[in-house]
Amino acid sequence: MAPCVRHTFYGVSVTRAASFATLDVVARTLRVELTAARARRGGAAPRVLDVGGGSGTWAVPLAADGCEVTVVDSSANALAVLRSRARESGVAAGVRAVQGDVDALADAVGDTEADLVLGHGLLEYVDDPAEACRAIARAAAPGGAVSLLVAGRFAAVLSRVVAGRLTEARQVLVDPCGRWGEGDPLRRRMDVEEIRTLVEAGGQLAVERVQGHRVLADLVPDGVLEHGGPSPDALAELEDVAAGTPPLRDMASKLHVLARRPD
Ligand SMILES: C[S@@+](CC[C@H](N)C(=O)[O-])C[C@H]1O[C@@H](n2cnc3c(N)ncnc32)[C@H](O)[C@@H]1O
Repeated sequence: MAPCVRHTFYGVSVTRAASFATLDVVARTLRVELTAARARRGGAAPRVLDVGGGSGTWAVPLAADGCEVTVVDSSANALAVLRSRARESGVAAGVRAVQGDVDALADAVGDTEADLVLGHGLLEYVDDPAEACRAIARAAAPGGAVSLLVAGRFAAVLSRVVAGRLTEARQVLVDPCGRWGEGDPLRRRMDVEEIRTLVEAGGQLAVERVQGHRVLADLVPDGVLEHGGPSPDALAELEDVAAGTPPLRDMASKLHVLARRPD
């Protein structure tokens, strides 16, 4: 039986590579993609470029899963944490950290051809999300995949209502960028159609899937999975279905896009 979601993946217990793939719908999607990439490359390690990869939430488990990962991030501090995390997890050789901006991605990594390019939690912060998507697409090898995670607009509405912040909830709903006000640390949130349109607008990527990330997992009360309640596998199976089922999908706190650069 797989261990509990809440305490493993986000704790990045990378020595347990299996949990990376089993406990999270995005991780499972990436695992399938990387298995195919490995086969295309005759068994060689898949090349992953993690743009805005930060301190390695995704990069370190992916390196533990046998990928060659390059992280590009504008923050020197985040990269320092990444390097130390990678060292502690015994995967330093599989993780390259490069300080750079998505706006100048080619300057940071040259003419990369990655089997998988991640932009997780990045589009919410950049100046020009369309240009960021184009740069990410250019870094993918022909036939390679792009994985994007963005903050969902509707989940933010619900979380503000639950907190009693009704004015902010309304603002997230009506604001063109899905922001609750001037103090909002995110520059944008999106719904399914907005992210799909953005990714396809550059003409370099075809969206294969849009799914919700952690649609229901965070609603399970603390302790339920640990103390003889439903098994974490049951939660993973439920999450798998909910991730692709509107309107549940549309209300996820993060929306995941898997897109591909044509051969
Ligand atoms: C919310 S964190 C996401 C980190 C990681 N991808 C994850 O999913 O946990 C956003 C990261 O994007 C980086 N970032 C923001 N703007 C950037 C830019 N224009 N170019 C490259 N990295 C950027 C930040 O430094 C930060 O590490």
